[in-house]
Amino acid sequence: MINVNKIRDDFPMLKGKKMQGKDLIYFDNGATTLKPLCVLNAISSYYLEYTANAHRGDYDLAHKVDTQYEACRENVAKFINANKDEIVFTSNDTLALNMVAYGLGALLNEGDEVILNEAEHASNLLPWMRLKKEKGIVLKYVPLDEKGRVTLENIKDVITPKTKVISIAHITNVLGHVADIKSICEYAHLQDIVVVVDGAQSIPHTKIDVKELDCDFFTFSGHKMCGPTGIGVLYGKYEWLDKIPPLILGGGMNINYNLNGDYSFKRVPLKFEAGTPLIEGALGLSQAIDYLFNIGMDNIHQYELELKKYAIKKLKELDNVIIYNEDSESGIITFNIKNVFAQDAASFFNYHGIAVRSGEHCAKVLGDYLKTYATLRASLYFYNTKEEIDKFVEVCKKGDDFLDAYF
Ligand SMILES: Cc1ncc(COP(=O)(O)O)c(C=O)c1O
Repeated sequence: MINVNKIRDDFPMLKGKKMQGKDLIYFDNGATTLKPLCVLNAISSYYLEYTANAHRGDYDLAHKVDTQYEACRENVAKFINANKDEIVFTSNDTLALNMVAYGLGALLNEGDEVILNEAEHASNLLPWMRLKKEKGIVLKYVPLDEKGRVTLENIKDVITPKTKVISIAHITNVLGHVADIKSICEYAHLQDIVVVVDGAQSIPHTKIDVKELDCDFFTFSGHKMCGPTGIGVLYGKYEWLDKIPPLILGGGMNINYNLNGDYSFKRVPLKFEAGTPLIEGALGLSQAIDYLFNIGMDNIHQYELELKKYAIKKLKELDNVIIYNEDSESGIITFNIKNVFAQDAASFFNYHGIAVRSGEHCAKVLGDYLKTYATLRASLYFYNTKEEIDKFVEVCKKGDDFLDAYF
């Protein structure tokens, strides 16, 4: 059970923060989440009490940083049921996805096929599109079903003997549909197809067990799960991480190099971590993980579904709101106010202290499927309340008068 009032107390941004002179209602959690004080404290204590670089110094402070940084890796691994060596720290989900595409791309040949779909975020499309241009790999797009979902049946229709990779979001960022990753992996592995899962929108909201899913790669960002910006994670099965080359080379990841240009890399995962890492980011993320774990991922998921159900019921009572994803099993509500351009509507929500996202949400090819140029997205998290939804619905009600009301 979620005690939302107690939880809200943990978030400085939820204590009297105003926007346009009104109490802030933060419904843009799909973009980034607010941070509890314990995460902020974990970050500042690194700077106030034990600043040093990681994996580089031979003095006590540096040793403390090394130990703490590696403990963060261990904590991330435990959170998703991976082994510690399978966790690579990156700067965000986008970098993690680029690292996978680059690494697998080195093993792919012209004509090899990669399966994507039009509901994916740009970060899971563009790296593959570049491989198409540079290497001649073939991109196949799974047709979405009538609700905008990717189904195993539809994936089966596009698989051919040349399919080598399926790269897919666990939960899509616009419609919030959950893909059945376990079944997809089971089927894909029967034909030696690698499955890459973009977990940016799933790990903040649901329990993740990479061994149970059996995906080959799983990527995410810390900032969407109460952690700091600038830290992300690439999980990969050890044998895959061992096989693929690193995207970024430099200090900290090499064993040796010489002027002939010979070089060798450290073992996994360090071969992927070139340059000084975001140490405070790892510390903050680890603290965020403890925080979420203590609330309970199942509690978080249930609470968000309850909030969404409540919001959908109320929104459906209005005749000026178009909802694009009422059945998706996550806290994302994508909608439009009839006859009002999404960005204008977002400005009006802002005027009422409500933060929602508007536009194409970095999924620029989904508009064709939705048959609309732009949408609004309210993305909920476990610190949101039914009272906030009531206020939000009241603002929606003013619908058609948005612009009149604003000026
Ligand atoms: C599904 C999905 N994938 C990838 C990303 C990229 O995340 P980041 O900007 O943190 O790298 C996002 C961010 O919104 C997302 O929602």
